[in-house]
Amino acid sequence: EKGTYPHFMLKEIDEQPFVMRKIINEYQNENNELKLDADIRSAMQKTDRVYIIAAGTSYHAGLVGKSFIEKIANIPVEVHVASEFSYNMPLLSDNPLFVFISQSGETADSRGVLVKIKEMGHPALTMTNVPGSTLSREADYTLNLYAGPEIAVASTKAYTAQIAVLAILAVDTAQAKGLELEFDPMQELAIAANAMEILTDQKDEIEGLARDYLPTTRNAFFIGRSADYNVCVEGALKLKEISYIQAEGFAGGELKHGTIALIEDGTPVIALATQANVNYSIRGNVQEVVARGANAMVISMKGLEQDEDAFVLPHVHELLTPLVSVVPMQLLAYYAALHRGCDVDKPRNLAKSVTVE
Ligand code: F6R
Repeated sequence: EKGTYPHFMLKEIDEQPFVMRKIINEYQNENNELKLDADIRSAMQKTDRVYIIAAGTSYHAGLVGKSFIEKIANIPVEVHVASEFSYNMPLLSDNPLFVFISQSGETADSRGVLVKIKEMGHPALTMTNVPGSTLSREADYTLNLYAGPEIAVASTKAYTAQIAVLAILAVDTAQAKGLELEFDPMQELAIAANAMEILTDQKDEIEGLARDYLPTTRNAFFIGRSADYNVCVEGALKLKEISYIQAEGFAGGELKHGTIALIEDGTPVIALATQANVNYSIRGNVQEVVARGANAMVISMKGLEQDEDAFVLPHVHELLTPLVSVVPMQLLAYYAALHRGCDVDKPRNLAKSVTVE
């Protein structure tokens, strides 16, 4: 039920802070210790390399998850688009663990890989919003996303749920391996949930940005570095699928290798600047596109902001910034689509779960 909301997408964007808190509760016991299935814990301890397999937005969550599992749990990770992996399988490590990320648990491209790797005898974990789904039943282990039903075709709360559960998986593995963490991950997740709630209360501001930057444009670019780059590809996907604006997410450093040729007078460029170690470089990229006429919108984070920034996000831990920086991306896409009169919840040519390869 949409209740008072005009669209499921807006409702689901708003639900994200509550989904975060639900996940925090579901994955902790009464002593605030993580409680993951012991079998999942030991599979993570045994593996020498994690292969994340997913499609679309879930693939983008996988890109963020890679940094968690590598930086927090110290295990190498590869992230693969399911449809590509099927016929172009990389050389596998000795003890691979496959992690399938799928909101619906029904994506045929991902299932194709699952069937193949099960035939090869490799273990599989499915992270899904639908525990009884095909990918969940056919894998050895399941991690539930607890996002509640996602009705809008464009995925929002499942993406942030996937990121949160990936963080929890990484932290649980680190604890099982006796690795020291320099921060309290569950507290940082709770801080991120609060930050998300602040953002969902700033819709008017973001609607204004959509009006100022995206009203009649044919295309738009998203640039970022490091964790911001991972969110830029998701921001671009959200915008293109519901507003039909041609959008692309680029790594800031790649601009000069070709993309900058596309910048014309008035081209909207949305830049994310939430990472201290690349703040200087991404600001340089913004200068470069502005010098070529771009209409640049910088979305930065408290502590790294500059006067000319269009929007400043509340501060969260540097690993968890995707949870908050994606919210204005989702809202920009929503309002751009709304202003163009698009069918936000049911964009043309798209299905909620893609059950054909
Ligand atoms: C984008 C979107 C799709 C899905 C993709 C995978 O908003 O919803 O890109 O993310 O089709 O679907 P699941 O996660 O169900 O496997």
